[in-house]
Amino acid sequence: MPKRFFITTPMYYVNDRPHIGHTYTTILVDVLARHHRMLGEDVFFLTGTDEHGQKIERAASDRGITPQQLVDEVAPNFENLWQQMGLTQDYFVRTTHQAHKELVQQRYKELSAKGDIYKAEYEGLYSLSDEAFVTETQVKELQAQGLGHTLTTLKEESYFFRLSAYENWLIQLFDRYPEFVRPEFRLNEVKRFVAPNGERGHLQDLSISRTSITWGIPIPDDEKHVVYVWFDALLSYMSACKEGHWPPQIQVIGKDILRFHAIYWPAFLMSMFREEGDDLNGELPDRIRQQLPQTILTHGWWLMGETKISKSLGNIVRPKELLHFGVDAARFYLIRDMQLGHDRSFTFESFIERLNADLANGLGNLASRSISMLHKYRAGVVPIPNVWDESDNEIKDMISNTATDYLEKMEQNNYSGALESLWATLRALDGYIVKSQPWNLAKDASNSADSAKLDTVLAQLYRALRMTAVLATPVMPQICQLLWESLGLSGKVVDQRFAGLAIESPAPNPVKDALPLFSRIDKDVALSEIEAIQIANTQPDKPRLDVPELRETTDYDTFWKTDLRVGKILEAQRVPKSEKLIKMKVDIGLEIRTVVGGIGTAYEPEQLVGRSVVVVANLAPRKLMGIESHGMLLCASDNNSKPYLIVPSDSALPGFIVK
Ligand code: ME8
Ligand code: MG
Repeated sequence: MPKRFFITTPMYYVNDRPHIGHTYTTILVDVLARHHRMLGEDVFFLTGTDEHGQKIERAASDRGITPQQLVDEVAPNFENLWQQMGLTQDYFVRTTHQAHKELVQQRYKELSAKGDIYKAEYEGLYSLSDEAFVTETQVKELQAQGLGHTLTTLKEESYFFRLSAYENWLIQLFDRYPEFVRPEFRLNEVKRFVAPNGERGHLQDLSISRTSITWGIPIPDDEKHVVYVWFDALLSYMSACKEGHWPPQIQVIGKDILRFHAIYWPAFLMSMFREEGDDLNGELPDRIRQQLPQTILTHGWWLMGETKISKSLGNIVRPKELLHFGVDAARFYLIRDMQLGHDRSFTFESFIERLNADLANGLGNLASRSISMLHKYRAGVVPIPNVWDESDNEIKDMISNTATDYLEKMEQNNYSGALESLWATLRALDGYIVKSQPWNLAKDASNSADSAKLDTVLAQLYRALRMTAVLATPVMPQICQLLWESLGLSGKVVDQRFAGLAIESPAPNPVKDALPLFSRIDKDVALSEIEAIQIANTQPDKPRLDVPELRETTDYDTFWKTDLRVGKILEAQRVPKSEKLIKMKVDIGLEIRTVVGGIGTAYEPEQLVGRSVVVVANLAPRKLMGIESHGMLLCASDNNSKPYLIVPSDSALPGFIVK
């Protein structure tokens, strides 16, 4: 029976529109799923959406629709995108599916029956953007990472999961099975979180129910509670798993959700799989380790320049822009340029440079050159090599070592390294052509030594290209299929298996005409096309405006009385019982002000934190709903009075005068 391979993406929050980050994770999983299929494994690739929780409830109420209506409207954004991109997910789960809800309730009851869940009062901070309870230390960490999180204080009755009881087993999991979290430096982060400086006793129990929201899965027998979204969402990996495929071999996540996957998730599973007689203070039984995910594979972030991609900063790369040069080009770039685990800054310039260097030149050029020489010198028939000089042998070894090296690096989660070594071989082949000068070898057909050497050169080029087509198929399925066909090979390259990769076997058929694999991109033209897509994309809801008449003329002195300053929003929260008002702490360089603004219908507090704004700084303070507001934020406005914040250029600092 083939080895089973279950791989997952995170379940994306539906209220976000997909961007480069989600696209990257999902493409990476698709590449790995395809790779493991070509290793001959029985693959199950799961993705889906996380649809419950406070963020959805709020977004729906802002729009005056039910949460169910909202999620039904937006979940297809993800599903359709993956479909359009030709991804090979086997199942798309939504946490609003009935089967999922039933499994969550079932597991909840089991954990409760085992005594791992109890009721108590929760008091503490909650981060809406993460849908997570946070401790004071975590608040500091989040702030150190420069993340703009809005925190609210919560006090409510809650059910708790006895996370602290699993400390011993968790620590053993990390120590004895370091492959549980990859790369290693991410495992170290998890260890430090669970046991700072190796000290035990820091892990606190986890609140896993909420009473202040209704959009969630009801807790069995106590329906005023709903299940905490993370308990809900994590279990979708299980509710949607194909029969016989448990546990996951690889769960790919971004570093932002490591704690949930590397601590809470295995603890929930330990609780589910432990039996009478298992000692939580003793050894973690192998039987339980075998039910946990093999590896939580954690990647870093795509950044824009040095900053995190975020809706509020408006620096989001959307799939449409990324896919402008074709799906395979985006796949190649994302896998080639991201060193797994680390952050990477994205620019369209480096994207285009990479494609031109590696796909248009690199592979594309080598393929068309080699195939045209095969036509010109051997009527398309791939010769059998008979003579081997030193440089031929060197290339021969290089080709076969590349295959081994590529597969090894993929196995070690070094995906960019795998592509790098394959492309290094393609470059070496360019050098091999230059050195052996096939055009000279072909000059005199009666020179049998030259002719034999030419046979060897051409055969090696063919073999290297055929190998590349197979190895790189998981990364670039369409381009590799074109290459495969150009080489005169029949069938689908995806049906090839790495195990059968016989590099030296003769060509079954003559080569065909070289199909163009990838055309060179003109950078300036491409950048302006991308800009046009971005502009078209950033205007989702059409503002209404009959342009109003200008007000009466004023003089400079009157205008100058208004002191406008650049400010930076440090904190933002809704004013209770008000739809419109948001209370903010704004740094204006000289001091930190409280400003209450009527922008709550257009902005969520978490979109505001970290933003630069323009503040009318010398207005007398006034009270709004009992809160003293000192200043106003400049906004443009349409006929519906919808506010559009005026945003100073990125490099302007708090306190700068606006004039
Ligand atoms: O966290 N760079 O969903 P989410 C790279 N619903 N990857 C990025 C990224 C970036 N700038 N931004 C996002 C959730 N991602 C939960 C998950 S799982 C049971 C529940 C990717 O929609 C990355 O994979 O916020 C990250 O982990 C994921 O999107 C978060 O998606
Ligand atoms: Mg997120």
